[in-house]
Amino acid sequence: MKIFCVTLFFCFSQSYGWDYKKKLFPSDFRFGVSTSAYQIEGAWDEDGKGESIWDRYVHTHPEVIADGWNGDNATDSYHLYKRDVEMLRELGVDHYRFSISWPRVLPNGHINTINEKGLQYYDNLLDELIKYNIAAMVTMYHFDLPQRLQDLGGWTNPEIIQWFEDYARVLFDRYGHKVKYWITINQPDVCFDAYGGNKMAPAVDLKGTGDYVCVKNMMLAHARAYRLFEKEYKSRSEVNAKLGLSVSINWFDAPDYSTSENEELELYRAFSFGLYLHPIWSESGDFPPSVKKAVAKNSKAEGLSKSRLPELTAEEIKMLKKSADFIGMNHYTTFFVNKTESGVRSGLPYSFPDIEVHVSQSDKWLPSKSAWLKGVPYGLYKSLLYLNRVYNRPPIFITEHGWSTDPGLHDTSRINMMREYSRGLLFSLEDGTDLLGLTVWSLMDNIEWTAGTSERFGLYEVDFDSPEKTRIPRVSAHYYKHMIHSRIVDEDWKLKNLDMSISNRRQKILANKKTEL
Ligand code: GAL
Repeated sequence: MKIFCVTLFFCFSQSYGWDYKKKLFPSDFRFGVSTSAYQIEGAWDEDGKGESIWDRYVHTHPEVIADGWNGDNATDSYHLYKRDVEMLRELGVDHYRFSISWPRVLPNGHINTINEKGLQYYDNLLDELIKYNIAAMVTMYHFDLPQRLQDLGGWTNPEIIQWFEDYARVLFDRYGHKVKYWITINQPDVCFDAYGGNKMAPAVDLKGTGDYVCVKNMMLAHARAYRLFEKEYKSRSEVNAKLGLSVSINWFDAPDYSTSENEELELYRAFSFGLYLHPIWSESGDFPPSVKKAVAKNSKAEGLSKSRLPELTAEEIKMLKKSADFIGMNHYTTFFVNKTESGVRSGLPYSFPDIEVHVSQSDKWLPSKSAWLKGVPYGLYKSLLYLNRVYNRPPIFITEHGWSTDPGLHDTSRINMMREYSRGLLFSLEDGTDLLGLTVWSLMDNIEWTAGTSERFGLYEVDFDSPEKTRIPRVSAHYYKHMIHSRIVDEDWKLKNLDMSISNRRQKILANKKTEL
């Protein structure tokens, strides 16, 4: 009965005699939205910006993009950032997560060429946020490496640890007093798609080696930036910020929702997110022992003298331990993991080189527009329970969570998912989780990497064909605004006079190029 109740929140709340409908999000719980530079800025070669690995990838391989749209212009936020901040005000969010494009501020990646116009752009955006009392959550690296650094090996060259620290120093010096939350790196598991496959730039297929080297270097780059911040910036009177790393933490369950643990499942979790959490949040530090063992075993069988997962030295382990003020959690969906008899390696969501399991999703789960993303609200709640248990109630900030649809303003599925997942957050807060806030992905439709504009994640719809990249609030934007304002998860919320609010407004919006919620 209890397992059944965990999967159905209504039942769960009833069996525990607790009415989530009356439960308020605490007053210090933060609500925000998220974007990233490549996905929204456009102006890919304007005002001195250098080429990024994504610019190079989509220009040399346009065939990888689903619908022909890429980040050259994106939503043109380089020019329309004031409209973006206006939308944040319309929603009533208290923080905005965006990323800085490394090649926009350091065109060749190194600090010997600083692009003042690029730095000025982020100053303008930050000043606009400050003007309206919206806290800035700034990601330093969200997948868009300067191409010049890639030519030097990118994340597989250990020199990048120093290059990243140099870049971090430029950002701390310039924006240290304007930022409330720093995220060093978004989702280091991108290594498995970027250096172990061709789903993400630079699409270098060095599976089983390049991916692990990338992971090690990203983790050390993160730690160096944290230690720099801790030593030279944190205690300054004008600085009031926390620093973390955003990790993709989806949920992985046994196919029968069994709560019993099994080795494959736990190993898959370790490969998927333990690789980035264990070095920082566990008592012992280092990469998870189970991952080390699995890669070492295979490497030996392949006749290698060392594990393909590079070792961390005692000094590196120490530097990484506790090198974050909170866990940045990007959560979207859930997968079933079970042992495979056939030796078929995992296909979803990443094909990890050293684990043979079958990864699947239930056809009972609500599909989104993205093949990998199904609506499984209980998964968010269970992953929070898991983090509490394994890492002893760490502070957690949900730095991404969202849903994709087709174009269109009536995004009922997004509202339903926002409602259900948010109920999970209330349950988790009730359990005593140290949950700092929720950051919805995304403020508006944007370039969903190789999916182009074919998967819409926005609370605001973007008309990519219009020169103004017109942004129009979806019904979910109204729902989120209501949730932020009321601080409850409202079951009964309906947008009054929906037709009036949306269809008629749409005409007005298209005529005026923008509207208020
Ligand atoms: C995340 C990524 C975002 C966005 C989102 C939706 O993994 O950080 O940039 O693309 O997925 O797929």
